[in-house]
Amino acid sequence: MENINWSDLTFGYMKTDYNVRAYYRDGQWSDLEISESEYFPIHIAATCLHYGQEAFEGLKAFRGQDGKVRIFRMRENALRMQSSAQGILMAQLPVELFERAVVEAVKRNIRFVPPYESGASLYIRPILIGTSAQVGVKPASEYLFVVFVTPVGPYFKEGFKTTPVVIFREYDRAAPLGTGIYKVGGNYAASLVAGEIAHEKGYSAVLYLDAKEKKYIDECGPANFFGIKNNTYITPKSSSILPSITNKSLMQLATDMGMKVERRQIPLEELSTFEEAGMCGTAAVISPIQRVDDVDNHHSYVFSPDGKPGKVCESLYKKLRAIQYGDEPDKYDWVTIVE
Ligand code: PLP
Ligand code: COI
Repeated sequence: MENINWSDLTFGYMKTDYNVRAYYRDGQWSDLEISESEYFPIHIAATCLHYGQEAFEGLKAFRGQDGKVRIFRMRENALRMQSSAQGILMAQLPVELFERAVVEAVKRNIRFVPPYESGASLYIRPILIGTSAQVGVKPASEYLFVVFVTPVGPYFKEGFKTTPVVIFREYDRAAPLGTGIYKVGGNYAASLVAGEIAHEKGYSAVLYLDAKEKKYIDECGPANFFGIKNNTYITPKSSSILPSITNKSLMQLATDMGMKVERRQIPLEELSTFEEAGMCGTAAVISPIQRVDDVDNHHSYVFSPDGKPGKVCESLYKKLRAIQYGDEPDKYDWVTIVE
């Protein structure tokens, strides 16, 4: 551990000591198994390989100034993984088993939870996959659940700095009645081409419009979108975006800060009326948006001419981090302390 430079961590994979697994066979879940291996053998006809029966989650643990380790809102992730499982017909994992696996994975790798001062955190990645053989397009009868962890720094290498994002009308990540509301691997596969083009052009992410009308803001590749104007926090309502737990938390914090909160369709043109805009998510935390380039129309919506994060983004960011790191009271019971 001596040689981990916590403050220089990026959002990448690093081997840790243990991962935690459970198997679904004959209609029931096994108890948790602890593994030191980063691998598992898999059947060549497993449904996750052919038909995308795969869902994942992302959550974080933080080491506080008091040395305690806090996991943020893991029940919400457990419930969302159940929803994803329902969405692509996989076996549902009991919330209690999910939570126990997450806590176990953090405990067994506690030496990888970055110190408070570093600003880094421990990223927790649960996955659920169909493992039994199937050649016809049908759900598997067996499933594997794995939780691994890895210490991470900021998702966007800039950290809490503004970055530009881009709209490309020729790519969609999710259909209006498709799987966008679930955290399934296929959505991310669908976002890779546009994401790489955006990165090559110097953007941190693609901002997707609704796939049907291309009229309303949906979300970014790896994070939800929000805008700020007139003391109001505005975030899209859409049937093709992931219900972000960070966004849900920010809506509460914005309310607590005396702001109004609106969850509704956001027409693209409304961007010109926003004072600030940002991306939010577990990995992204809050990433303030410098500008949105609508390249098809040669138009830019600029939120931060001087490149500095807006005041509201900054207040929300500080408030959220303070709860996650235990600097402020956890009045909504969002945090689980790992003993
Ligand atoms: N939207 C997408 C597509 C994501 O992948 C994520 C990341 O989990 C989010 C939004 C943010 O969700 P959360 O705040 O629950 O991490
Ligand atoms: C997260 O924020 O946890 C995500 O899953 C986003 C991205 C890394 C896929």
